[in-house]
Amino acid sequence: MAAARAAVRVGGRGVSARAIVLAAGKGTRMKSARPKVLHELCGRSMLWWVLEALREAGIDDVVVVANPELETLLLALGVRTVVQHEQLGTGHAVRIALDALPPQDGTLVVAYGDMPLVEPGIFREVQGALDGEAALALVTARMPLPSSFGRVVRTAEGVERIVEAKDCTPAQLAIEEMNAGIYAYDERALRETIVRVGNGNAQGEYYLTDTVELLLAAGRRVRPVLAADHRSVLGVNDRVELANAAAIMNRRLCEEHMRAGVTIVDPATTYLEPGLMIGADTVILPGTTIGGTTTIGAGSRIGPRSRLADATLGEHVQINESVVVDSRLGDRCKIGPYAHLRGGCVFADDVTIGDYVECKNATLAARVKAMHLTYLGDCSVGPDTNIGAGTITCNYDGVNKNRTEIAANVFIGTNTLLVAPVTVGEGAMTGAGTVVIRDVPPHDRVVGNPARSIAKKPAET
Ligand code: UD1
Ligand code: MG
Repeated sequence: MAAARAAVRVGGRGVSARAIVLAAGKGTRMKSARPKVLHELCGRSMLWWVLEALREAGIDDVVVVANPELETLLLALGVRTVVQHEQLGTGHAVRIALDALPPQDGTLVVAYGDMPLVEPGIFREVQGALDGEAALALVTARMPLPSSFGRVVRTAEGVERIVEAKDCTPAQLAIEEMNAGIYAYDERALRETIVRVGNGNAQGEYYLTDTVELLLAAGRRVRPVLAADHRSVLGVNDRVELANAAAIMNRRLCEEHMRAGVTIVDPATTYLEPGLMIGADTVILPGTTIGGTTTIGAGSRIGPRSRLADATLGEHVQINESVVVDSRLGDRCKIGPYAHLRGGCVFADDVTIGDYVECKNATLAARVKAMHLTYLGDCSVGPDTNIGAGTITCNYDGVNKNRTEIAANVFIGTNTLLVAPVTVGEGAMTGAGTVVIRDVPPHDRVVGNPARSIAKKPAET
């Protein structure tokens, strides 16, 4: 089984680090009623990915700087927040967070909530670069131009300052080393410096990035940490960038499972969420979406064009062009094409469900077959029972949902209607077109509308 993103815990340097995540910006370029950092990629919000990467890097003590609207939504999710009422810049946002946090000696990581692709390793690296001498370590990345990122201006001695793109001279705009927006500060040094950040720049904002120059002027050191791959520090500002980030994230998830022994025929059209468990030698065919708490046993074949959510599948299961939601299937079940399983279905081993069959809250025992055009809702079916084409469990009487109980070794004829609540006994048989409105005893044979018995009585034999 491959658990996506296995948690790796790393201790801090004596005192464990804490983090501030900036997320109060309006995100106007998303053109959305929803706060930017709550837009999703691979089934989780941008902010979730940032918080998860911090957690995996060993940083649990996190406060998110939010605007009032986002704060309301985050409180409901149990995320600790500080409100920034006016978005006066990243420096202002950090200052507000520091005012709300009790001072603590040690490392303070600052990250931006719109960078979901940052991996835990980068947070660990930047923390590690903050040795005793440096007051700030910051991640930089080489990126293709043009770019709206802040430029890292260096001298022979090292980083000199960061200039925001809007404040750059043409020569500075040509610099290819960017400020990624991931920082590890010595908290005490940051507290001394943040109060001296001004807003005399092109945007009239308090820039967090001005702390670089201020710390250097105070005789402190700043350590750059060059990211190996600039794609992991891409920010998301609009929906085009969101789709690009989602493709990168999805590819990462696919690669993790492929490395763990899963064949994914076309990662570009296979959509995964984090935390899935997929057994080795399972093959995933194109156009398939798998999410929620889904677990898939080894040697299964999923797709093409299927959707699984909160599904638990045994080994050697086949899902062909079908939807399985909130359901549990045993080994060697064969589903589809064009089947829909939902609402707490529980199937034992070797169940076969064919074309245009919908199952809702159906408990099917081993080797049950329903091959064509059927609705099985709120029912249980015993082992080796065959459900004929066009069978419907009429579970809804307009007020209540009623159950149908079908025992083992039953033969349900084509186009049978089972008007629930009703039971069909072991070994019974219904003829084509039967409308069952009363319980059928074991081994009885019924036909017609309403169903009547045609079984030979013992006396007549
Ligand atoms: C910032 C950096 C830039 C860097 C880039 C990387 C500054 C001044 N510049 O620019 O050097 O290359 O990120 O992506 O830091 N936010 C607040 N409150 C505010 C303003 C912003 O919480 O008042 C949050 C935003 O929600 C966002 C983050 O801070 O998550 C970054 O702000 P944004 O305006 O996107 O900064 P950039 O212009 O991208
Ligand atoms: Mg940004």
